[in-house]
Amino acid sequence: MPGSIVVGTQWGDEGKGRVVDIVAKECSHVVRYQGGHNAGHTLVVDGETFALQLIPSGVLYEHVIPVIGNGVVVDPHVLLAEIEMLGAKGVDCSRLMVSPQAHLVLPYHQLMDELAETQLGDAKLGTTKRGIGPAYADKASRTGIRVEDLLDSDYLRERLHAVLRERNIILREIYGHEGVDPDVLADQLITEVAPKLSPYIGDTIGELHTALQSGERVLFEGAQATFLDLDHGTYPFVTSSNPVSGYALVGAGLGPGAVDQVIGIAKAYLTRVGSGPFVTELIDEIGDYLVETGREYGTNTGRRRRTGWFDSVMARQSVRLNACSEIALTKLDVLDQLKIIKVCVAYEVDGRRYEYLPHLRRLHDRATPIYEELPGWLQDLSEVTDRSELPNEAIDYISFLEQQIGVPIRFVSVGPGREQYLRFTS
Ligand code: IMP
Repeated sequence: MPGSIVVGTQWGDEGKGRVVDIVAKECSHVVRYQGGHNAGHTLVVDGETFALQLIPSGVLYEHVIPVIGNGVVVDPHVLLAEIEMLGAKGVDCSRLMVSPQAHLVLPYHQLMDELAETQLGDAKLGTTKRGIGPAYADKASRTGIRVEDLLDSDYLRERLHAVLRERNIILREIYGHEGVDPDVLADQLITEVAPKLSPYIGDTIGELHTALQSGERVLFEGAQATFLDLDHGTYPFVTSSNPVSGYALVGAGLGPGAVDQVIGIAKAYLTRVGSGPFVTELIDEIGDYLVETGREYGTNTGRRRRTGWFDSVMARQSVRLNACSEIALTKLDVLDQLKIIKVCVAYEVDGRRYEYLPHLRRLHDRATPIYEELPGWLQDLSEVTDRSELPNEAIDYISFLEQQIGVPIRFVSVGPGREQYLRFTS
């Protein structure tokens, strides 16, 4: 039962879409297992940029069946717009399958997310304001609306009335918003959304089991990343789902044993969007250099990302949490012009050295980085196509990270183009 998982080892935006695009070549299915349109995966194919939020990156291959699993939360308007956008660029989405058990992100989720963030002021979480948290909260509270509910108009209307009775009190009394009319929303979903989405709703679990049983390789595409994980991330500055590899099985409807490869994606430096601790953060001209050279602005929201040095403590913890079998290192070329490159090798908290993340958040909050410095290569790597063409300093940097992380780095990207990467065999 060969399955591969691609998972972000940092705070997201590691370039997972790139790696998925490459691995997907050899796969029959690519599956999203959690998150929603808070994700933004950018791919550059033949000079054309594709920005995907919900549809798995594998859609760009004609032989791949893209699957949106039960663990995802789906904004139906965003999904339909994405199908249309891809269609206009000549990409056929007719193979797409959406789990009936996936939950819908509806306008009141987005409103609640946006209004709650605004009310929190400086204490805000810095969410993408896409309604992801409220949609997962509804799922856990058993008040969510699922994709399959679109197929039953009466039930859908009834559920919306029941849910909005309470949500509208919150919207009106707490946030001074006029609220959402359940009938208007139901009419819109029934007449505009359901007819367009229903052809894609299918037995995703059956499809994936059959594929795995017949020996096909299935790829599970994580969105967000390990340190945005609801359980394992820097809580409460996290997303509301579980990006870690273990959840790929839950979010797709499979059991342990379905996977034999976990590829952890790590950027050659570190970024984060939104609030929360960041031990190696750079608030100086090197931080600005990383933002500008790495084009570190959100695909989705346009927000400037925070930047910092590579953090081996987080990487080691990520390998533990995800059982990574290998690492793909992305955006190495962004470091091209730096004379000195620092790598955080451990944390110090109250005089004690930590090789892994401290188990208490208050210790993590007080951690300071212990750095090692490596010389930069001061050369343009964007045209390099083979390991033998890399300058020694770049090879040393990769080897140093490999030694710090403890699992092999098997892929290194040196530019945004589909072909700008190197394979490492050892
Ligand atoms: P939410 O997922 O919109 O609720 O946002 C929660 C946190 O996760 C915020 O810090 C967001 O910036 C972050 N986040 C959500 N999705 C992504 C992503 O795809 N990349 C990077 N950060 C993300």
